[in-house]
Amino acid sequence: MKKTIAVLGFGYMIILWSSCQNSEKKNADNMKAHAGISRVDWGKADGKTVHLYTLTNNNGAQVKISDYGGTITSWVFPDKKGNKSSIVLGFDSLSGYLAKPPYFGATVGRYGNRIANGKFKIGDQTYTLAINNGKNALHGGLKGFDKVVWDAAPIIDSVPSLTLNYLSKDGEEGYPGNLNVTVSFSLSNDNELTIEYNAITDKTTPINLTNHSYFNLTGDVNNTVLSQLLMIDADHYTPVDTTLIPTGEIKAVKGTPFDFTKSMSIGSRINEVVGGYDHNFVLNQKNHLQEPAVILYDTLSGRKLELFTMEPGVQFYTGNFLDGSIKNSQGIPIRQHTGMCLETQHFPDSPNEPSFPTTLLNPGDKYHTITKYKVTVQ
Ligand code: BGC
Repeated sequence: MKKTIAVLGFGYMIILWSSCQNSEKKNADNMKAHAGISRVDWGKADGKTVHLYTLTNNNGAQVKISDYGGTITSWVFPDKKGNKSSIVLGFDSLSGYLAKPPYFGATVGRYGNRIANGKFKIGDQTYTLAINNGKNALHGGLKGFDKVVWDAAPIIDSVPSLTLNYLSKDGEEGYPGNLNVTVSFSLSNDNELTIEYNAITDKTTPINLTNHSYFNLTGDVNNTVLSQLLMIDADHYTPVDTTLIPTGEIKAVKGTPFDFTKSMSIGSRINEVVGGYDHNFVLNQKNHLQEPAVILYDTLSGRKLELFTMEPGVQFYTGNFLDGSIKNSQGIPIRQHTGMCLETQHFPDSPNEPSFPTTLLNPGDKYHTITKYKVTVQ
């Protein structure tokens, strides 16, 4: 397949690529949407122009991604009656994101999740990070990867893709090393959104990249996610202290409200978990790029989400801190539990927990990880 990086010099909206022209099944494809990628100017941040890209597959599913924060702003997919709506929380305009919502759809880094007291050691050297969550560092600091403008390159290939690049400078938010990060998003014709993360560094640094989409498969922010059915292929989770830092224990889920090894409604035991779910699940050691690590199903809309990942953990967060104070672009308050996150990751506070899988990236090594989300309707 030929691979071309499209040059976008101008324009309000340009269809860059269309699968229909080359297809052998011309007639069948004529019935379908034209797959491609388009771009609009979306405002300014850090003195740079921000863009919104729309990836469309040949079934008409659309994922919108901004180069501001590498943010997925919407993912439109039909329900079982054919009604289309977005299955992730987000805003129609950049101003929603500049108001610093809690990481809606964002690419999170340099370190997704918490580092205790914003401190860690590499060898004899102690590093001190920006503190932005009680006494801890969360999601990369005061200005993490979710709040910077990335360089974007739409890729013309067999499916529409967008590649984002960001150079995080040595010392940024307290982290060591110049870290060169690339995140690629591609939307397949069978409704699979693949996110591939790559990075290299010139000094040893912790790294833990993730995406912070809040899913609501009903496609309606008036509904909570509590009736949705969830399976997480994890026999263990990492219990936390009152500031959500892991205690270091790897605890069995059996007999606890954290047991989602068999599909269970999210709300059935949430009241037994202080504050709601906001925990790292230790995925069972399988090839979770082949077998789903997580399955989420909404009986109301018939939409099903399957999550595939190379990461050892997933933070299951039930939007506990959403309190209606943020409104979506239609003016609807975003209330508690109206979105849930499945943040694929290494475990929180790994730089201070030698027994957890390491998050250190050394010069000369390559950080590479893939997470895929597949949506179907039944
Ligand atoms: C964290 C939550 C936090 C949310 C938004 C999640 O990843 O686990 O505790 O409130 O992100 O910042």
